[in-house]
Amino acid sequence: MIHRMTRLLVLLAGFFFSVQLVAQKVQPITVLVDHPVAPVQSTMWGIFFEDINFAADGGIYAELVKNRSFEFAKPLLGWKILKADPSEGLLILNRGEEQIANPRFARITKTDVVEKFGLENEGFRGMGIKQGMTYHFSLLARNREGQTLKIRPELVNAKGEPIGSALLETKSSDWKRYTVSFTANSTEPKARLNVWFEGAGSLDLDMISLFPADTWKNRPGGLRADLVQLLADLKPGFVRFPGGCIVEGFELATRYQWKKTIGKPEERQTSINRWNTEFKHKLTPDYYQSFGLGFYEYFQLSEDLGAEPLPILSCGMACQYNSAEVAPMDQLEPYIQDALDLIEFANGPADSRWGKVRAQMGHPAPFNLKMIGVGNEQWGPQYIERYEAFARKLKAKYPTVALVSGTGPSPNGKFFDYAAKELTRLKAEIVDEHYYANPEWFFKNAARYDSYDRKGYKIFAGEYAAQSVSGANPDNKNNWRCALSEAAFMTGLERNAEIVNLCSYAPLFAHVDAWQWTPDLIWFDNLNSYGTPNYYVQKLYATNRGTQVVPMLLNNQPLTGQDGLYASAVFDQQRNEIILKMVNATNLVKNQPVTLNVKKRLDAKASLMVLKSDSPDAVNSLEHPKLVSPVEQSFVVKGKTVETMLAPNSFSVYKIKVLE
Ligand code: AHR
Repeated sequence: MIHRMTRLLVLLAGFFFSVQLVAQKVQPITVLVDHPVAPVQSTMWGIFFEDINFAADGGIYAELVKNRSFEFAKPLLGWKILKADPSEGLLILNRGEEQIANPRFARITKTDVVEKFGLENEGFRGMGIKQGMTYHFSLLARNREGQTLKIRPELVNAKGEPIGSALLETKSSDWKRYTVSFTANSTEPKARLNVWFEGAGSLDLDMISLFPADTWKNRPGGLRADLVQLLADLKPGFVRFPGGCIVEGFELATRYQWKKTIGKPEERQTSINRWNTEFKHKLTPDYYQSFGLGFYEYFQLSEDLGAEPLPILSCGMACQYNSAEVAPMDQLEPYIQDALDLIEFANGPADSRWGKVRAQMGHPAPFNLKMIGVGNEQWGPQYIERYEAFARKLKAKYPTVALVSGTGPSPNGKFFDYAAKELTRLKAEIVDEHYYANPEWFFKNAARYDSYDRKGYKIFAGEYAAQSVSGANPDNKNNWRCALSEAAFMTGLERNAEIVNLCSYAPLFAHVDAWQWTPDLIWFDNLNSYGTPNYYVQKLYATNRGTQVVPMLLNNQPLTGQDGLYASAVFDQQRNEIILKMVNATNLVKNQPVTLNVKKRLDAKASLMVLKSDSPDAVNSLEHPKLVSPVEQSFVVKGKTVETMLAPNSFSVYKIKVLE
């Protein structure tokens, strides 16, 4: 009897226990596919480009010669004189006012026909040279009386052995551009360029340049194709340029001035890069901006990528972490005029003053600029009064161009609250928020925008990246833990696409031998490049953007970290697809059914992309560029239910086709 009672009790207990287990298991997430809440803007996932970490010169701008026009503060930085006879001469001359943008040039004088004399350029931590690739060497030159000098560009490997050369003769006593092409006979990551002078005579030289032929779209003097391809693969909705703090400058004199970055390359005024001496632990005294990648090229890049251009301009405030210098309110006019002129440069007819400059550079059609940023990461009342002055003038002339303003470097606190209040009062349209914080912050803030005012300004999550150690710390890594936390946070950005209209990770690029700031989305050396785990998170979002946000709920609540789960869902009207993004931030497998509330039938065959790693510290590298990268799987949808089996610490994207 006692035995039977015990068995009964055990059975009953087992029954209740299993009911509880089943109840836990079957608690499904529901996706209200037929109840879209908001459109997802085409601009939702974009890129933030700043010339930091050798992103432009030495990076995406494919020029291989550093200090090509001798305009660095030290005119021969990057150059070495190769000579046996000290009487042979190199003189740097300065034309001053005659050519303000590019005053210096080199005068070569060689009297001894037999002695060797040349200049060597070290490139940007060397030059990445590929076997069999054609290289275009060019320069501006003018012969001086009695010259019979010939110019021999020669690439040498790290050991100094020649790997390709050509011969060039100059013919005029006026400044002229000369070009000669040659092929490299071996691959070398740290090559140097020698420019030898043969014979005897004298000539003047400027803009000594070397480009590979395989630039993006094979444009002469263009961009590095592998790096642009990584951007193109992201299918960005917008390109924010040129930064970042670089917009502001250390002081007003070194702010980014777009008018100095257009026209012929030799007419663009080289400037110090503000990241040159920013970090004592990462000094880069050879970091300048040649502006070979200037505003025209930024617009062209945006167009190539099918992305909206989003230029950010100085609002008359230098970096508040540096000099914090401001232009007085009664002297703000030139800054506002720069913004007005930029809109005309981008959108004006080919016969308008600035539209004509664009047309002459090769783009008669407008670039169709729709947004412009006033200031980068400014804060305090000085910013608000300057923004107001800009807004008044810009809106009066260009009412349809949306203005982007900012809330400063922090996503909360005194300055943030002040800016948010003032920008609300001023009826700001799009407001930029920045978050550089630890991964825990990103996990905790997945619901940040759930409570934001639906009727206020739109949000531009303009700079964000999880920091594995702390902000601007040189030990920060682009590791899986950080990337996963960003994926979790981004479910909140996506769920709130009604108000969050633009988002971009920052910074974008870093040269492995010349960076100042980490973490960064894409790393490269002189020949190779790779996307970080964070890059693949961005890519999974941007290439699965969808067109409408649909509610994804557990117990009627959005998934913002309950039980370590984060999720959001979109519907894609063009592809007729439901897309679920799910983050499992626990160490356990989660068997989490999702019910799709949709009237139409679903295709049983569906696809799944999984991004995961067993180690929170896992990183990609030049040696293992895809260690953490998405893996595609297929799975079967049973009726209207998706049986998800979320791997520990994983980010999964499910795509389910709706049948007509
Ligand atoms: O992304 C690096 C820097 O961080 C940006 O230049 C600046 O806007 C922010 O402080």
